[in-house]
Amino acid sequence: MVEEPDDNPYVRDPNTSFSPVEDLSEAAAREQVRDLREALEYHDYRYYVANDPVVADRTYDALFDRLAALEEAFDLDDENSPTRRVGGEPLDELETVEHVAPLLSLQSSGDAAEIREFDRRIRDAVGDVAYSAEPKFDGFSVEVVYEDGAFERAVTRGDGQEGEDVSANVRTIGSVPLHLSDAPDFLAVRGEVYMPRSGFQALNERRIERGEEPFANPRNAAAGTVRLLDPGTVADRPLDVFFYDVIDTSATLTAQTEAFDLLRDLGFRVNDRTTVVDDVEAVIDYRDRLVAARDDLEYEVDGVVAKVVDFEKREELGSTARHPRWAFAYKFPARTGETTVERIVVQVGRTGKLTPVALLDPVDLQGVTISRATLHNAAQIRELGVREGSTVRIERAGDVIPEVVEVVEGGGADDDFTMPETCPVCDGTVVQEGEHHYCTNASCPAQLRRSLRHFCSRDAMDVEGVGTEAADQLVESGLVESLADLYRLDADDLAALDGWGERSAENLLAGLEASKDVDLGTFVYALGIRHVGSERARALAAAFSLDDLMDASVDDLLTVEDVGPEVAEAVVSHFDAEANVETVERLLDAGVTPERRDRGTELDGLTVVFTGSVPGYTRSELTELLETHGASVTSSVSGETDYLVVGENPGQRKRERAEEEGVETLDPEAFEERILSRLD
Ligand code: IVH
Repeated sequence: MVEEPDDNPYVRDPNTSFSPVEDLSEAAAREQVRDLREALEYHDYRYYVANDPVVADRTYDALFDRLAALEEAFDLDDENSPTRRVGGEPLDELETVEHVAPLLSLQSSGDAAEIREFDRRIRDAVGDVAYSAEPKFDGFSVEVVYEDGAFERAVTRGDGQEGEDVSANVRTIGSVPLHLSDAPDFLAVRGEVYMPRSGFQALNERRIERGEEPFANPRNAAAGTVRLLDPGTVADRPLDVFFYDVIDTSATLTAQTEAFDLLRDLGFRVNDRTTVVDDVEAVIDYRDRLVAARDDLEYEVDGVVAKVVDFEKREELGSTARHPRWAFAYKFPARTGETTVERIVVQVGRTGKLTPVALLDPVDLQGVTISRATLHNAAQIRELGVREGSTVRIERAGDVIPEVVEVVEGGGADDDFTMPETCPVCDGTVVQEGEHHYCTNASCPAQLRRSLRHFCSRDAMDVEGVGTEAADQLVESGLVESLADLYRLDADDLAALDGWGERSAENLLAGLEASKDVDLGTFVYALGIRHVGSERARALAAAFSLDDLMDASVDDLLTVEDVGPEVAEAVVSHFDAEANVETVERLLDAGVTPERRDRGTELDGLTVVFTGSVPGYTRSELTELLETHGASVTSSVSGETDYLVVGENPGQRKRERAEEEGVETLDPEAFEERILSRLD
């Protein structure tokens, strides 16, 4: 249990009406920053670890914003500040770091006889033992190192000897302490990073909406996220961690129970299902109970780990090169079963991906009736040799859709199955990309909801009011069967939808009307062509007119920078699909007028840095404004910088750098006069 900080004004009932930053002396600011950091770290602990927050979210946000403002104004950066939870600068690569001690693996089996045999060997060697019984978390393991009580680094498992430095990413996880009180000078701990099921589902929803491939399971999602190069993206993903091990370099601990208590006392998140049992039969019971509970947990567990509690006995037992002799992972039974394939059908997902699915003679897998299982793609069907009538083994891992993993009988090269050449849902053109096939019709009913949301999103046509729910309603009611139908909506039809009124109907129609006058690049992006994000859409619009783009060949497209064969193929096949050409034509007929808006050149060659805020604008508005007129806006002052714009609550470091480099500074008025006035 972490103690509440004494004498900290930001812990209980904090007052969040702060005096202006500029009224603070440097010393007062430092003091406030120190208190705010201490309080926010405590609040993180109460919220993420103890599950018992002290302040409302709103209060937390106010404290956080105040800290961020002070850090910016007084240049008080610290990589272990709670403000870093929202991410730091993107990295070019992850550095390799050696582990404090090698990360071994575990002996494992799902067979009760094997864990009994493990137990017998232990008793033969060291006599009676107690075991720590813990869930075996199915995530991504990390080693986290603290020096002088401060978070120093987090390292992935890698090859067990050395891993990758993922410190900036692991700092974004709210339950990972940034500072420890009463900790040894040096402390290394291990734990398992995972993605909670609910967060995993929400993340996949968002990915599908953006046309990205969903992650196959929470473990892959966690592993992929921890190794990203941009901590800002990591901060937006729901990660959490359970710690289970202390690497005791000074040998002060004598038992796993002490290690566990130490972790808990220092404020690490530990799993409360961990327990101590007297013998191997109790480990087996523990595992059976956990098997029964596994679907109700927010995290995936694939077994239990039994560890000898007493460290002296561990020492005696020792390790092989691969694993310790004092621990054993008793795995959960795989959820597999055998049945016959009645039929193979092809399903179209929300990204337009075609997936062959086996319809099965229903079979029970540990309480769940399974009547369909994915075959992933055509290559998989060939490799497995699945055909209608085959007896197959199916497997369900965690939450994931069951899959066919093996043919038991009646397999063979399947001449019957071929991927359809047209979409089974809309008859649209199908293209192959690698092992997968996709329907290219953006208005295919299977994809229409996603296409609609994308089309209306901020960076696309920017039509407010078409979120998940509205898109579902528009499609389900039949009012929208193709993107172009949006511009034929009428107020009465809309107002008749559940939860809509005249006002929301009028707003949507007004938004649609306003969207008609659109930049060509934005329009191309809005069409939702595979692999064409907003940058590429802009590059394509700069190189081609809309007509030319629709007629362009792969070779034509390859002349555009940042367009490779995969992108070129995607563009060609998009406009090969008649339905997509028709959609564009109908959009134009409805009055949408995409026009090439040339980037302004008034500020060409100018490099500007901002510190503090310019009244009337957000930082991103200013950046966009200057950049669309040819300037570049960078984040640090160098010899290349033309102007440093010093707004309200500016940072000190940038100003000092500007002075050193002889860079001219502008206050907001001078900025208006010298730069903004040059724009039309
Ligand atoms: S102890 C040498 N405890 O399993 C023993 N590991 O196969 C060190 N894991 O890389 C591991 N939950 O990622 C331990 N409660 C738990 C665990 C656990 C999951 C993972 C960990 C490790 C792998 C070993």
